[in-house]
Amino acid sequence: MTDDKKNKNHQSDDQDMMKLVDNLNRKEDVNLNRRAFLKATFGTTVALGLATTPFGVLSVMRDGHNDGERVEIAEADELAVGESKNFVYPKEGDTAILVRTKDDKYVAYNNKCTHLQCPVFYEHKEDILLCPCHKGYFDVNNGHPVAGPPQRELPKILVEVQGGKVYAVGREYRHG
Ligand code: FES
Repeated sequence: MTDDKKNKNHQSDDQDMMKLVDNLNRKEDVNLNRRAFLKATFGTTVALGLATTPFGVLSVMRDGHNDGERVEIAEADELAVGESKNFVYPKEGDTAILVRTKDDKYVAYNNKCTHLQCPVFYEHKEDILLCPCHKGYFDVNNGHPVAGPPQRELPKILVEVQGGKVYAVGREYRHG
């Protein structure tokens, strides 16, 4: 082998080595970047979780307090079987409906339709809750949607009858 050829081979070996080192460095960079990205993502998730926790806790406390109140909503004999009455619960603006069903049970729900918030009425002939806006129907015994656009049940208000009076005593959280 001539000296010239030897030099060329040597140069080529050096270049290969440099490429290899370069590739290794690049791999390390990618790994470092991936690690940095994961750290940043984790940090952001934790920070967001911590930042929103007080709102979640506050809302649970506020709702829990209001929903647990015992409020007289009617005299027991005020409604005949198949009649209804509107009231508010747990706070002003939370309109609701109390129904004395054909089976002589008292049931109550917040009466804003779960479709687009129109008020729901008791249709005594059919023994069903009706939203006239888009003909949404709810089962009076459990508040579940049975026909029309509504997909979610009405918020149920727990009711107790005691000493000739009907009380709202809380709200049962379901799907919304
Ligand atoms: S608002 Fe009640 S059915 Fe649309």
